[in-house]
Formats: sequence, structure tokens, C-alpha cells
Amino acid sequence: MIKSRVGDITTDLIQAIGKVCEKHNITHDEYRKAIDFFSEAIDAGERSLLFDAFLEANIVASDPTKTTGTTAQVLGPFYLPNMPLLDNGQLARPNEAGERLTVSGSVLSTEGGIIQNAELDFWQADAEGRYSSFNEGVPQYNLRGKIKSKTDGSFLLQTVKPAQYTIPDQGPTGILLKAIGRHSWRPAHLHVIVRHEDYQTLTTQIYFRGDEYLSTDAVRAANDDLAFPLSKNEEGSCVAFNLILRE
Ligand code: BEZ
Ligand code: FE
Repeated sequence: MIKSRVGDITTDLIQAIGKVCEKHNITHDEYRKAIDFFSEAIDAGERSLLFDAFLEANIVASDPTKTTGTTAQVLGPFYLPNMPLLDNGQLARPNEAGERLTVSGSVLSTEGGIIQNAELDFWQADAEGRYSSFNEGVPQYNLRGKIKSKTDGSFLLQTVKPAQYTIPDQGPTGILLKAIGRHSWRPAHLHVIVRHEDYQTLTTQIYFRGDEYLSTDAVRAANDDLAFPLSKNEEGSCVAFNLILRE
């Protein structure tokens, strides 16, 4: 018989689930309800949400390829690929509601070298906590787009401050969140994927220091390392941070 990684993991998973069943005297009726629950979550369009809310942060933490450089974060269910390269780093439309936010920093290697021409693929909630393509009333592809790091490794993005938001909590994922005693709030954040052909792709999130939900993030992803201070400029607020890629 050929042993495989999938086989090894499946064997361990079955064993772990078996222990939980024994510990809680799981009945056949409960087993059937659990199967129905997963079907309902998928039918409600919550396949990614359910897994990302409860498991993705564990996977990010267990991935041995993500030990150095900027701390990795969950991708979550609201990413859309193939968004356009932005003109002059303008992520927000001129009439976008909310406080203006200037985002700046450099893309660096773990040795401290500058990385030019890296692609930074940003997406974020708006000032009401809504994501385009997932919430009603938001213009198509709003607050999604890419910039490149310049020849000195620096980047500059003009946007609005995203709001804290609740992940969808009226369906199966919300029922489970409540059952384990978690609220559904995420701290305010920017999502970014950083890509460069000579380095490993980084998926992370940027939070703001002092956010009340950093320590109780609904999806248990937020990390103090990634919570940066906000300062004021003429237009609104600024946040600065470096993004460090592994070779
Ligand atoms: C998000 O930040 O977009 C997210 C991550 C995990 C689950 C739900 C939302
Ligand atoms: Fe998000």
C-alpha cells in the first residue's frame, strides 16, 4: 500500500474526530445534523466563509514556509483576482465616503534589501465596512486594485480608512460563531498580497494600533505585529509599514 501525505493527514483527522465524538457522546442524530449543517452553509454561499472564519488562521500559523518576513494572514473569502493597476496609487474614488488614508512604506527582503517592481494587490472594506461584489450598494470592484513598488522599493497608496465590520453572521457561520461564544466583529484592516518573481508571495493584512477588536477578532487572525499607529496629515490619516518578503 502506498502511504501518502493525504492519507496520513486523513488518518489523524479521523482519529481526532473520533476522540471528540467519544468525549461528547455524539449521537447518530447529531452526526446527521452536522452533515446537514455543512450542506446548508454551502447552499447559503458560505463555503469559503465558514472555513476561513474557523480554520484559516490555524493553517496560516502551521505553514512552515511562512516563518520569516512579514507575518502572513488569512486571505478570507472577499478577495477577487485580476483587479487593475491603479493610476498614481489612487485606490479610492475622489467621492468615496470616509476619512482619507495615506498608506506608505517599502517592500524589503529579509536581508533588508529593497525590492523594486513588486506587485501589491490591495482590497479593503469601505467606511461602512462593506466589500464590493459581496455587499449591496457598493460600486463594482470598489476599493480593489494593484500598485507596484518603485525603484527604491517604496510604495504609496491613497485610500479611505476601512471600518471595522461584522463578517456575515445571519447564516450558518453566524450560528456557529454564537455557539462558541464569539462575536462577529473584525478589527479594521487593509488586505494585501505582495508578489515578486524572485520571492515568496506574501498574503497579509494591516491593522491599526488601538483597535478594540484586535484581541477578539472573530476569525482569530489579527496580530499585534501588524497593528500600526495612525498619524494625522492635512487630508486625514496616514499609516506606514514595511512589507518583508522571503526568498
Ligand atoms: C476578511 O477579512 O475579509 C475575512 C477573513 C476571514 C473570514 C471572513 C472575512
Ligand atoms: Fe477583510
